[in-house]
Amino acid sequence: MYSRIVGTGSYLPAKVLTNFDLEKRLDTSDAWIRERTGIERRHIIADGESNTDMAEQAARAAIASAGIEPHELDLIVVGTTTPDLVFPNSGTLLQARLGCGGAPAFSLEAACSGFIYALAIADKFVRAGESKRALVVGSEVLSRIVDYTDRSTAILFGDGAGAVVLAPSDEAGIISTHLHADGGYQELLYCTGGPARGPAPGSFPPGDVVRMAGSEVFRLAVTLLGRIVDETVAANHLDRSAIDWLVPHQANLRIIQATAKRLSLPMERVIVTVQEHGNTSTASVPLALNVGIRDGRIKRGDLLLLQALGGGITWGSALVRY
Ligand code: UT7
Repeated sequence: MYSRIVGTGSYLPAKVLTNFDLEKRLDTSDAWIRERTGIERRHIIADGESNTDMAEQAARAAIASAGIEPHELDLIVVGTTTPDLVFPNSGTLLQARLGCGGAPAFSLEAACSGFIYALAIADKFVRAGESKRALVVGSEVLSRIVDYTDRSTAILFGDGAGAVVLAPSDEAGIISTHLHADGGYQELLYCTGGPARGPAPGSFPPGDVVRMAGSEVFRLAVTLLGRIVDETVAANHLDRSAIDWLVPHQANLRIIQATAKRLSLPMERVIVTVQEHGNTSTASVPLALNVGIRDGRIKRGDLLLLQALGGGITWGSALVRY
């Protein structure tokens, strides 16, 4: 038994923050941001809009494209780093919106790898026969933990949500998932506070914000995402040329290009959306997947490699026959 992706959806808030907007507030330039990251704009959540609002939009689109009703869902897993509340968890908040109480619903936090982690867990529920309709969501409100006085991070992050529905299938499906973490790298990319510890004393701006040692994370991302390409291909006794589409975490175009090179995959076979929304953490892989499917590039039967790396450090991949 395999699990198969039977529906996808995504959501980006209406408000757009361009590189030119950031030029006015920070010592940066559109040219620098585009050249070093590939990002042109990010979408920013409206005042009064929440993580759950975005997750609901993406989830409803995925449920509709799967041709099912919310009450048919028997599992909800939400990957997020920016939940509305410490608890109840984001899975239950979303479940209440969808009006489908009863089934297990939970969230997990693995920073930008959170969607790959959530997908891997939901896949195991489906394979074990414990779920027939699993909703997997990545949703982030990173703009609320970005320090907009720090040019090294303010240019990178945006808000958004993406979702998939999984169902059982005799044919693959999700062929394999590969998850890793190394907590020894936690100082390279982290949020300055949390509900148990509170904000760092004397922190400016007040509240918890993202801090990142960008070039170190960049180097690790190129190395570890390259390595997981090799691991995924080897575990499935595949030739790299068998991969039809790379659907990577959208953090930096140069990292994506390095991974594509490792796969000997031309950039025309890579789904790139980073220019449109910057780094949306857990939302970025399902956002890119939904774009590639909806615009007709990714077709049924294509072989996809999904992958991501984020704070922790966590990283992971999924080999998927769409
Ligand atoms: O999703 C989790 C994974 N996260 C990532 O994958 C992000 C990984 N890191 C990156 O994407 C890149 O490291 C950045 C885009 C954050 C930075 O690019 P970089 O090429 O690694 O630049 P750098 O940090 O080595 O800095 C080069 C120069 C520095 O100036 P000096 O010291 O050479 O004079 C920085 O101060 O660029 C400067 N700089 C900027 N200049 C204009 C840093 N940020 C900016 C900026 N605008 N926004």
